[in-house]
Amino acid sequence: MTRQEAKIFGILGGGISYSLSPQIFRILFDKFGLPHGYYLFDIAEKNPGKFIESAKLLGVSGFNVTVPFKCSIMSHLDTLHRTASDSHSVNLVKAHNGSLTGYNTDIFGIREVFREMGLSACANKRILIIGAGGTGRTALRFFQSKRARNITIVNRSRRRLGSLLQAFGFDGSSGTVRAYESSRLKTKLGDAEWDIVFNATPVPTEQIIPSSSFSPDSVIFEAAYRSNRRSSLADRTVGGIDMLIYQALRGFEIFTASKIKDYDALKTEIKRSVAK
Ligand SMILES: NC(=O)c1ccc[n+]([C@@H]2O[C@H](COP(=O)([O-])OP(=O)(O)OC[C@H]3O[C@@H](n4cnc5c(N)ncnc54)[C@H](OP(=O)(O)O)[C@@H]3O)[C@@H](O)[C@H]2O)c1
Repeated sequence: MTRQEAKIFGILGGGISYSLSPQIFRILFDKFGLPHGYYLFDIAEKNPGKFIESAKLLGVSGFNVTVPFKCSIMSHLDTLHRTASDSHSVNLVKAHNGSLTGYNTDIFGIREVFREMGLSACANKRILIIGAGGTGRTALRFFQSKRARNITIVNRSRRRLGSLLQAFGFDGSSGTVRAYESSRLKTKLGDAEWDIVFNATPVPTEQIIPSSSFSPDSVIFEAAYRSNRRSSLADRTVGGIDMLIYQALRGFEIFTASKIKDYDALKTEIKRSVAK
């Protein structure tokens, strides 16, 4: 077998020393006998432009993108894969012949977690998405693709909520998607019960919406996976870590132009390793 050339990969974000992505990718590179490196590109800059220049200079082959750059990176890329343009959010960039393409593998991660839970039908579910950043956008795209007809989005700031609505071409007051600033949720909807809550913020769900908003059957999907978070809703919470590993498996395929045979088995193996 010919020896592979070592490539540089990593994850771009701000304040992401907790990230498990380097550990996951190193497990994958090791398992498949690849000599590649995966690094934390944790930057203080608000604008990702300078990082892009540096990454090109260093010959970085690809990188994941996380908080707070999933939306702002888009204007710095040469092309967008359909997964990224449909969800108006990028969480992976691949370099090829000097050109950068943005992808969204978070949507694959969300889809796989819902498949694993047997939660495929969303058309009649009352869905609440908390957060209008990159992951909130991706969740919206996912539920749209499931033909969901009853989606409410809340976000702390009006600015980011407006930017999501503009990107998706909604006015947020009618049809299948309603949108509110978080502070207005209670006056607008009272103690509405949700079938599915997708929390796409770093803040635990119970700090944003009251416990009376849940029925015993409600499913809460917490995208954030930091192990130091403690949620009183833990017994009905899914998501974070499984989504992270599934999106990384799809990212590995894109970075290495390869195909994983059994996602579920590999996800379980990696989850066991990172939980140690
Ligand atoms: N498990 C996974 O694979 C996975 C994948 C993607 C993301 N995530 C997690 O999902 C979360 C969001 O990521 P992102 O990339 O979407 O980030 P982002 O684009 O920076 O958006 C952050 C969102 O969180 C909201 N927010 C931040 N602090 C808040 C607070 N104190 N109270 C209420 N809302 C707050 C922001 O609202 P404002 O507009 O008001 O600032 C915004 O809607 C992060 O915790 C990230 O680690 C996990």
